[in-house]
Amino acid sequence: MTQGPFPATRFRRLRRTEPLRRLVRETTLSPADLIWPLFVRDGEGERDAVPSMPGVERLSVDLLVEAAREAAGLGIPAICIFPYTDAALKTEACEEAWNPDNLSNRAVRAIREAGIDIAVMTDVALDPYNANGHDGIVRDGVILNDESVEALVRMALEQARAGADILGPSDMMDGRIGAMRSALEAEGFRDVTIMSYAAKYASAFYGPFRDAVGASGALTGDKKTYQMDPANADEAMRLVARDLSEGADMVMVKPGMPYLDICARVKGEFGVPTFAYQVSGEYAMLRGAADRGWLDGEAVMFESLAAFKRAGCDGILTYFARDVARHLQN
Ligand code: PBG
Repeated sequence: MTQGPFPATRFRRLRRTEPLRRLVRETTLSPADLIWPLFVRDGEGERDAVPSMPGVERLSVDLLVEAAREAAGLGIPAICIFPYTDAALKTEACEEAWNPDNLSNRAVRAIREAGIDIAVMTDVALDPYNANGHDGIVRDGVILNDESVEALVRMALEQARAGADILGPSDMMDGRIGAMRSALEAEGFRDVTIMSYAAKYASAFYGPFRDAVGASGALTGDKKTYQMDPANADEAMRLVARDLSEGADMVMVKPGMPYLDICARVKGEFGVPTFAYQVSGEYAMLRGAADRGWLDGEAVMFESLAAFKRAGCDGILTYFARDVARHLQN
């Protein structure tokens, strides 16, 4: 590609008016790009604020169904459910994770029964149910891989039974995608999709999320023996290749904005459906600054999401999903 020298080339010609800018815009954001993460709690008619995530609430199942209905009406194709589990239900063996009637499974069923035309994604990891806050089974201070995978498979099957469309293993154990895929095939869930949290980093940007699901207090130590080192990039490519080879339909990079280089490489090297998770800490930074008048909240919301599209992502999990979709509708 060659560009003529100035003044044959003047880039500003195509930036002069909004219609001209729109004409040559390389990427666009639509509600179809969004997955809306939602927190579910016990009770009926209950909603409570998450202080470190202004504007985000935990909703009881009945209100969650209404939120899903609104999302579908706004053209958002998927929601992702995260349960706030009562501390009394958290154990070392994490049995509540595969209880067919746990909060997450009840929420999925309620959305299915309401007949809402939206894809429902669930999180496959033990942390909401684990007495020590880890994503895997812990014995003598060690997070056990293969025992965790067995537990995760049981959990995944119950989520499929409840009617989940997309399973989102966020645990970062080795071999879990293959184990889940063969169990799903064996049990007749041939069409359940897996969006692997393939490149998930041991990030400090998850702090507000752990408040939202009530895992902050429980967590002992850190997640560095299973989540990725933020200094690594080639390893992310190997993880994506591995998860695809085991049967993942889609892959995710998490967090989002600090890892756009990873998003671009994944899309470029594999060309598969690639998603980014704009995580709780990213949301908190933007919302927190906007609420203080330090940033233009609407502008940074759109700019941050445009960055994911530019990097090649097919979609974004974002707590801004409903706000964005409402703005796009107007
Ligand atoms: C749990 C899980 C986490 C997030 C999604 N699933 C937290 C963690 O790994 O500690 C983070 C999401 C966010 O920060 O918005 N496995």
